[in-house]
Amino acid sequence: MAVITCIEDLRRIYKRRAPKMFYDYAESGSWTEQTFRENITDFSEIRLRQKVAVDMSNRNLRSQMIGQDVTMPVALAPVGMTGMQHADGEILAARAAEAFGVPFTLSTMSICSLEDVAAHTTRPFWFQLYVMRDEDFVRRLIERAKAAKVSALVITLDLQILGQRHKDLKNGLSAPPKLTPATLADLALRWRWGMAMLQTKRRSFGNIVGHAKNVGDTSSLSSWTAEQFDPQLDWKKIEKLKEMWGGKVILKGILDAEDAKMAAKVGADAIVVSNHGGRQLDGALSSIRMLPSIMDAVGDQMEVHLDGGIRSGQDVLKALALGAKGTYIGRSFVYGLGAMGQKGVTTALEVIRRELDLSMALCGERDIHNLSRDNLLIPEGFFTRYS
Ligand SMILES: Cc1cc2nc3c(=O)[nH]c(=O)nc-3n(C[C@H](O)[C@H](O)[C@H](O)COP(=O)(O)O)c2cc1C
Repeated sequence: MAVITCIEDLRRIYKRRAPKMFYDYAESGSWTEQTFRENITDFSEIRLRQKVAVDMSNRNLRSQMIGQDVTMPVALAPVGMTGMQHADGEILAARAAEAFGVPFTLSTMSICSLEDVAAHTTRPFWFQLYVMRDEDFVRRLIERAKAAKVSALVITLDLQILGQRHKDLKNGLSAPPKLTPATLADLALRWRWGMAMLQTKRRSFGNIVGHAKNVGDTSSLSSWTAEQFDPQLDWKKIEKLKEMWGGKVILKGILDAEDAKMAAKVGADAIVVSNHGGRQLDGALSSIRMLPSIMDAVGDQMEVHLDGGIRSGQDVLKALALGAKGTYIGRSFVYGLGAMGQKGVTTALEVIRRELDLSMALCGERDIHNLSRDNLLIPEGFFTRYS
């Protein structure tokens, strides 16, 4: 087994093991993929300030996200079809997160259902809600999340309509994959994936099939989802959903200071500064570049979290130093899962923890709560270049 030293190692193994259709689904952004790329490259423009001769013993990475203890402030982001990247993917990722002591967020568009993940874990997880037109279905989904003891509802606001990813259209993405000559030829190379998939019953959208009207089987699902996302979602509806849920609410997909103020006004417990990993509005700025203006607007009113482009512990450090209280990884954990199942997700988290811990020490900090803008060196005009 190769020695894994970084997230990129996991991505390479994942690329060999997962069917092309699902690798492409994860490793892509919308249209030109500019935002997808810049989420990553913008992190690398920010540099770290080296400090020496500082006591670096007894370092602390422990913190809290929405009042819940975390061993480091890095949650697993909601990722649709995780159970197609590896058989039973959501259960495996949730178990890895639980053992590590970080939150796992289950997507509405997961393969393993809410009930299934709850049955295979011992601690509460978070549930991400896509708001659908069918209000009755949304109400039942919220009731199911309550019954599954979910401890926070993450409402995604940046996908009322689906961004276009060229590769998904060209590959004919579906779950389970349609068996065309091209997919059969590809699957023949991914025997490990196929063997595991043959041994599980979880191969379609577990939260939806059998629960939503007119979706008895997966063949009608893609048209159902395209029709179902609610184009009329607005702040009033968000308030109603918050009331219906009655627990902690995180609003995901905020990239603008004015929207952040609205999120504070409706009483969100936290927001996630996010552009959906560059999968929605191509041309939007990277999450890290937008973070300071959002911190200035609402940082003293609620927790601000960030996702998009985190591929190392150093990226986490930069987001925290700019004021984020928590971060999320999407693709970084998917690479681990697709490469090596639950062990791969654990490895991804370990890689990030090691990088975060070492970098913090070399920046002369012992406690994650002490990170601040002083630890960073930022190119002039970096945050003000676009207005
Ligand atoms: C393959 C894939 C599927 C995703 N599915 C969802 C989803 O179902 N719900 C959601 O709110 N966000 C979804 N996202 C966005 C992630 O939650 C997160 O915002 C994004 O992955 C962060 O960027 P990163 O992958 O660079 O870490 C998805 C992202 C990817 C890569």
